[in-house]
Amino acid sequence: MQTHEIRRRFLDHFVKAGHTEVPSASVILDDPNLLFVNAGMVQFVPYFLGQRTPPFTRATSVQKCIRTPDIDEVGKTTRHNTFFQMAGNFSFGDYFKREAIEFAWDLLTKSVDDGGFGFDPERLWATVYLDDDEAAGLWQEIAGLPAERIQRRGMADNYWSMGIPGPCGPCSEIYFDRGPDYGVGGGPLANEDRYIEIWNLVFMENERGAGPAKEGYEILGPLPRKNIDTGMGIERVACLLQGVDNVYETDLVRPVIDTVAAVAPRGYGQGNHDDDVRYRIIADHSRTAAILIGDGVSPGNDGRGYVLRRLLRRIIRSARLLDITTPIVGDLMATVRDAMGPSYPELVNDFDRIHRIAVAEETAFNRTLASGSRLFEEAARTTKASGSTVLSGKDAFTLHDTYGFPLELTLEMAAEAGLSVDEDGFRSLMAEQRARAKADAAARKQAHADLSEYRELIDAGPTEFTGFDELNSEARILGIFVDGKRVPVVSRNGGPTPERIELILDRTPFYAEAGGQIADEGTISGTGSSATAKAAVVDVQKIAKTVFAHRVTVESGEFVEGDTVVAAVDPKWRKGATQGHSGTHLVHAALRQVLGPNAVQAGSLNRPGYLRFDFNWQGALSEDQRSQIEEVTNEAVQADYEVHHFTTRLEEAKAMGAMALFGEQYPDEVRVVEIGGPFSLELCGGTHVEHSAQVGPVTIIGESSVGSGVRRVEAYVGLDSFRHLAKERALMAGLASTLKVPTDEVPARVANLVERLRVAEKELEKMRLANSRAAAANAAAGAERVGKVRLVAQRMASGMSAGDLRTLVGDIKGRLGSDPAVIALIADGGDGSVPYVVAVNSAAQDLGLSAKDLVQTLGAPVQGRGGGKPDLAQGAGRKPAGIDAALAALRSELDRS
Ligand code: SER
Repeated sequence: MQTHEIRRRFLDHFVKAGHTEVPSASVILDDPNLLFVNAGMVQFVPYFLGQRTPPFTRATSVQKCIRTPDIDEVGKTTRHNTFFQMAGNFSFGDYFKREAIEFAWDLLTKSVDDGGFGFDPERLWATVYLDDDEAAGLWQEIAGLPAERIQRRGMADNYWSMGIPGPCGPCSEIYFDRGPDYGVGGGPLANEDRYIEIWNLVFMENERGAGPAKEGYEILGPLPRKNIDTGMGIERVACLLQGVDNVYETDLVRPVIDTVAAVAPRGYGQGNHDDDVRYRIIADHSRTAAILIGDGVSPGNDGRGYVLRRLLRRIIRSARLLDITTPIVGDLMATVRDAMGPSYPELVNDFDRIHRIAVAEETAFNRTLASGSRLFEEAARTTKASGSTVLSGKDAFTLHDTYGFPLELTLEMAAEAGLSVDEDGFRSLMAEQRARAKADAAARKQAHADLSEYRELIDAGPTEFTGFDELNSEARILGIFVDGKRVPVVSRNGGPTPERIELILDRTPFYAEAGGQIADEGTISGTGSSATAKAAVVDVQKIAKTVFAHRVTVESGEFVEGDTVVAAVDPKWRKGATQGHSGTHLVHAALRQVLGPNAVQAGSLNRPGYLRFDFNWQGALSEDQRSQIEEVTNEAVQADYEVHHFTTRLEEAKAMGAMALFGEQYPDEVRVVEIGGPFSLELCGGTHVEHSAQVGPVTIIGESSVGSGVRRVEAYVGLDSFRHLAKERALMAGLASTLKVPTDEVPARVANLVERLRVAEKELEKMRLANSRAAAANAAAGAERVGKVRLVAQRMASGMSAGDLRTLVGDIKGRLGSDPAVIALIADGGDGSVPYVVAVNSAAQDLGLSAKDLVQTLGAPVQGRGGGKPDLAQGAGRKPAGIDAALAALRSELDRS
């Protein structure tokens, strides 16, 4: 049964049973705790938690899922995918265990003719959570499973959560027995290769807190209602129904393997296990990469971007290990599109962008390999020169960190150069870096990962935002938190590391950081008898998207829960913030006018006086594009457009052409900000100027790359824009005075100086060449007859590099004519290395001589390693004292021939 058919049957089965079919969400949802959507239930979390009212009580979906923790298992086992499709049925306070088990059993065992999957009931097993007698009883009653085919497992396996705070509950998994060919019996408890998990039914009834991902976390209490969340692995079911050995050979993955096999020198399934694993890695990762790019991820150096980069590099690396020498990623993306397009139209509609980004990463990585190889050679040379045979952990780390060399690549190249690598040193540097990144990420997440302390306030309802209409609001303190713990009263933050104090009010004019606009600054002050209380607001973040937490430093007095306070936004700050945010919309609109609709927003940040805007784009902007964007932006300022905002339904806003952010989940009612009618229309909850002229001048100060495929423009707005220009003017005046010319002559003067430098460098190069010619002529004149050939075997001036020797050898060869000739040049590199080069002309090759062999003879006495082709070979040694012996050894070898 084809995968598309499995999908269709699943959805039909549940739609028939009253479920609403919901499309897959993007694999990126706006949750800083979750790298990727890893289960079908993720898009429904607010329904389970009771934060939002679901528009239906039963739903079914096939969700795109990404799971990368087991990336190293991919290709080695029969069942690990980094991308897979999870088919699920969900009940939001509607049916529970009994129906969930009935629905699943019916679909799995119903005959194919009746719309089911036709699994043999005798080969199905179930697991339940330790004490879930109810589920065990239902399996016996509904499915007639004998007790020995129902196994009980602990929290790690049979109590499901997303690994982070959120809904959770005991679960029951369904397994298929692949038979004795796949190992010992005894059920899933004994052997998960033979017994393949195909479906997990989660009885979602509790909410968990922070703590370890799988077990040992705190259960905070029951959810408002009992729910069902199930997930069936489409690829695994396809593997079983299609009678193939592993998930990589199913109908939607196998085509990628075939595309690779068409260009690889060695085929798939030819008995070479390592090769087969490489094929499967490419097949799995290609799908994941296409899906990720399709959902708006670009290759980068951290977070989601890094995962994508790593996948693409593993593809390229695996292809190289299969001895594929031509670019291949473009073809892989096309194959994925053809296979998966029917279920995921975005892969077809957006193919140009997906293709462009993936291929650009391939090209960049191949360039990386080229420049990293230079660094590697340098490091290898220094290592050898110091008499060591171990490449340092630091070198391996730099290669990894700066050039993106996977460790295996460094290991392999080191082995080729006769070196080993200090892997422990490498690992400890990696661990240090990881620790730094983790600390960084933890600091950024701002301790709101654990919401349990805030639960009561979240349940009490959202904070009322008054800041669109006023900057000063009277409000009541609903809660005070110190380092995430609720307290009744707070005074000055003391101590060397001041605590993190948060005030939660019933209403506030403070804008909480969102949509790229950073939070407002200002003060919160006491009133009446607590009028001395004063706090500066340093940050405002939303908790659970609804409650505004004002992070403050208390400057005087004390704040008590229940107090009435005045929250006052600094008007100057707010004015700057509105300029920054409206400026961002203007730049965005200008960018799309100049570059076209492919310049898709990837992120933004704005604060008073400054803005930056990231967008998907390959290659740098030209000077011309950049100034056009600046021009269009400033024209929009000059036009003094009116700025309007209104709320409308999401579909309506989209139909109007309003810009929305990729992967962002929007509510049904959205706010739209419109500047100058059609000029700019965006979904946005931010604060804005009333007329575009209030933004003031916009100066683009830079355009740069932030990971491949994503560009960033940065700009100053308002007074900061003017200050920037004034600084540049002063800089120019300084240059003019140093060069002693009027400012408008500076460019000509600099051009003149550069030209003179170029001429001088050329002159130098000419002299070097002349010297080298003379050396070649000298060497050629010294040719001697040894055996059947003319031989030039010489020690060259010390300090010459391998490159110098290669140029010389070519020159000498040209001077020796067509008689059989051998040239061997060797030098003391001056840094302990001994470069050498051997050339054999074609007449000498006809006599059976080969540079590849002779270079070994020459290298041995200087403890060198080298190689090459029959006409030209080179190597490097590390014993300068052996140079004479090396030349003698070569001579006597030729004498004998
Ligand atoms: N959320 C559960 C899982 O991922 C069932 O869908 O296994």
